Amino acid sequence: MKRLIPIIAFGTIIALALSVQTGCYYDNEDDLYPFTGMCDTIDVQLAATIKPILQGSCYACHNASAAGAAGAGINLEDYSSLKGWADNGRLVCATEHSNGCSPMPLGGGRLPQCDIDKLKAWVAAGALDN
Ligand code: HEC
Repeated sequence: MKRLIPIIAFGTIIALALSVQTGCYYDNEDDLYPFTGMCDTIDVQLAATIKPILQGSCYACHNASAAGAAGAGINLEDYSSLKGWADNGRLVCATEHSNGCSPMPLGGGRLPQCDIDKLKAWVAAGALDN
């Protein structure tokens, strides 16, 4: 019996240590509150919402200076050009990687779905210069 006591004590310590470890493992915000998939597409505006997306993924090829060499002459910094691509459906078609359009960003992965949803919301609301 005397021999069993240290074994039981050791076993208890190991069990406690393991439960503490797994307890801590899940104690971070991302695991406790996983992203619920909510995407705010209300009141999407060109300046505040859309331009930062284009800036991050598109202007490298589609701005005034790069468009000629890298962006097939498509300057998405220019509102009237952007509006044209929005109205003819190709802005959404290309970003969604739909059939019949060149998938954008060229050579890169698809944008996060929330960014695409915001783009679609802006186009659906009339692609306003707001
Ligand atoms: C690496 C350079 C590059 C990047 C980055 C890029 N594009 Fe393009 N884009 C091009 C080129 C080149 C073409 C024309 C060639 C083609 O259609 O494949 C094009 C074509 C397009 C077209 C016309 C597609 C069609 O099928 O009519 C649209 C719309 C467009 N881009 C939007 C975007 C948007 C929006 C982004 C960012 C999400 C983006 N592009 C990022 C180079 C780029």
